[in-house]
Amino acid sequence: MKLLLTGGAGYIGTHTIIELLEQGHDVVVVDNLSNASSVALERVEEIVGCSIPFYQVDITDKVKLSEVFSKEKVDGVIHFAGLKAVGESVEKPIEYYKNNVAGTITLLEVMKEHEVKNIVFSSSATVYGAPEVVPIPEDAKLSTTNPYGASKLIVEGILKDVHLSDPTWSVVILRYFNPIGAHKSGRIGEDPNGIPNNLIPYITQVAVGKLKELAVFGNDYDTEDGTGVRDYIHVVDLAKGHVASLKQFNTGQEYIYNLGTGQGYSVLDIVDAFSKVVEFDIPYKIQERRPGDISTCFADASKAFNELGWKAEYSLKDMSEDSWRWQKGNPHGYQ
Ligand code: NAD
Ligand code: WQD
Repeated sequence: MKLLLTGGAGYIGTHTIIELLEQGHDVVVVDNLSNASSVALERVEEIVGCSIPFYQVDITDKVKLSEVFSKEKVDGVIHFAGLKAVGESVEKPIEYYKNNVAGTITLLEVMKEHEVKNIVFSSSATVYGAPEVVPIPEDAKLSTTNPYGASKLIVEGILKDVHLSDPTWSVVILRYFNPIGAHKSGRIGEDPNGIPNNLIPYITQVAVGKLKELAVFGNDYDTEDGTGVRDYIHVVDLAKGHVASLKQFNTGQEYIYNLGTGQGYSVLDIVDAFSKVVEFDIPYKIQERRPGDISTCFADASKAFNELGWKAEYSLKDMSEDSWRWQKGNPHGYQ
């Protein structure tokens, strides 16, 4: 199949390109480079040994997006493009809704005009809010507490309505848990702007000496060691989940899958795993809880296994080693 990847120059997109090409698919990337570097795509080309068709286009620009669809006859879209920082979304709700919601509507309009009716959408475990049960099944109650999460929930609803209105659309909603790790080559990985908000890039930047110590946000949660528990999934496993989900294209159905490992690890488990990999103790200090954080979140990933034959394979050790290889080899990311 030939797939158009919006946001394909980003962290998850670049890893997905590699898995798609390895499975014999063709890709076209559309990205406005608002949170990515063209160097990431050059590195992907180096890994896969061929050039990747790339258009620096904003998905909110209907005219330019339509030109790409006219030029490249694609079978479907994997829609990664979006802004993703929870805290920033509270400060800039209009930008988040415009980019994530209006951008998706423009994309859907263009897809419809070009008769491309297969889409995979990057949703997030954030749509489960503070889960009532773990592991979390796909039919759990949904709620959000910030514009980023709300934008994901709104887009899920839009996609559901689009499919209901025209059952020739095939829609796959993938709810990612916490993607970490990097490609084995150490050439591509997560490259956050400024001081990282997320746990793993923070830890690796402490390990590489860019930051002094990790602040552990709270040790009074109702978990084994009191720190927050999450379902960390290797980005390459996640990328493979996208390839597996393509089997639902051209079925005229709507599907929702959790992509997680089904295993929860606490912040201190993660600190411990990284300390072993870097061979010294990662310095940390217990601090106040971070506002908006939840205690525990991990996936029931059985639906993706039963229907797509996909399950996460990489261990926490693999994820830690691969994140560290990327950070050590690229202390300043792609710069
Ligand atoms: P990322 O920021 O690395 O990738 C997103 C890409 O989209 C970037 O390359 C950015 O330049 C591009 N982009 C943003 N707005 C655009 C626009 N208007 N037009 C064209 N390109 C645009 O993020 P990622 O971690 O690779 O995430 C990919 C998707 O997965 C996002 O939708 C994100 O919300 C979702 N997601 C990410 C996580 C995570 O923790 N990384 C978890 C759950 C869901
Ligand atoms: C993980 C754990 C923190 C940083 C976020 C988004 C979510 C999704 C993935 C996109 C928590 C603790 C963190 C630090 C810490 N993204 N922590 N010190 O919050 O589970 O999810 O990214 O969809 O929407 O909310 O991930 O990596 O920020 O935090 O102690 O400096 O690490 O409290 O328990 P989170 P995270």
